[in-house]
Amino acid sequence: MNDLASIPGQTLMLGIDEAGIERSANLLRGGALVAFPTETVYGLGADATDSDAVARIYTAKNRPSFNPLIAHVPGLDAARREGVFDEIALRLAAAFWPGPLTLVVPVAPGGTVSDLGRAGLPSVALRVPASPVALSLLEKVGRPVVAPSANRSGRVSPTRAEHVLADLDGRIAAILNGGSTSVGLESTVIACLYGRARLLRPGGVTREVAEAVLGFAFDTGNHPDEAPIGPGLLASHYAPRAAVRLDALRIEPDEAVLLFGRDVPPGTDAAKARLNLSETGSLEEAASALFSALRHLDAAGTGIIAVAPIPRTGLGEAINDRLRRAAAPR
Ligand code: TXA
Ligand code: MG
Repeated sequence: MNDLASIPGQTLMLGIDEAGIERSANLLRGGALVAFPTETVYGLGADATDSDAVARIYTAKNRPSFNPLIAHVPGLDAARREGVFDEIALRLAAAFWPGPLTLVVPVAPGGTVSDLGRAGLPSVALRVPASPVALSLLEKVGRPVVAPSANRSGRVSPTRAEHVLADLDGRIAAILNGGSTSVGLESTVIACLYGRARLLRPGGVTREVAEAVLGFAFDTGNHPDEAPIGPGLLASHYAPRAAVRLDALRIEPDEAVLLFGRDVPPGTDAAKARLNLSETGSLEEAASALFSALRHLDAAGTGIIAVAPIPRTGLGEAINDRLRRAAAPR
């Protein structure tokens, strides 16, 4: 057997070989929860068509409310069975799928994603991930798989199987261990409704690149017919245990410090712990390291994580968005 039962919980840690993927697919088809790697973060998967399975996600994560979830599918054909794609949605899908982009589109007649998975909305969030392990799993399941990030509600998103285990051991059936995720930040969420495109959550696909493909800027503001959307976009989210202080220009004793680039704020030498997201100032490298770094600095036992300024362009928009949520009052 290549699946070793994890100790001390009952959650299985499975390898990403044929057997591990097959076993994960069978567990999912049977209504169990399986965490799996995507190129963004680890997702906590459930059969999207089975509302009992979807409900288990909320129990496992300790999530207080029913947020709409992203349904993962292995390709555009499967996506179009679930949602209605207008010209804008098709253009974005062609440019960025498979990849770190989620499209919110009207539910297709005959769509199979359960009401609970969509939180009762008339729209559905769809994503074709780029990770070969995720794609192969989705092919084998043969149904859409809803998957929020595989962490306890409100905690930092997991970019390694060990992070998932730390949060969810004993609460889910299995984890497919695919090592570290490459992008490290969740997907960009774009709503393609009412013939318009709105950026609901910055993420792995940058605003600049998406707008270049669209040929116009994202819409701002709600359409008059539109229900308030993005109920999952809680202000406090991605939170480590420690408080987070942003744009720190000097570091106080006893703080842990998260650096970016070569500029080191005064006081850093006396910090309790320090980590640099990217010495060379690469936003890609920083995005990929962010959640792991927050977990690491949290483990140093500090009361405050001070974060040096990070540029807001490109992937910096999503990095700053996650840091703002980590810093929000709880
Ligand atoms: O990278 C990712 O997107 C990861 C991996 C696992 O794929 N998943 C993830 O899921 O981040 P979650 O549940 O943490 O975030 C889903 C986001 C929320 O912000 C939610 O509000 C939005 O998608 N969403 C889902 N369905 C929606 C809908 N019908 N209308 C508006 N927003 C929706
Ligand atoms: Mg999440």
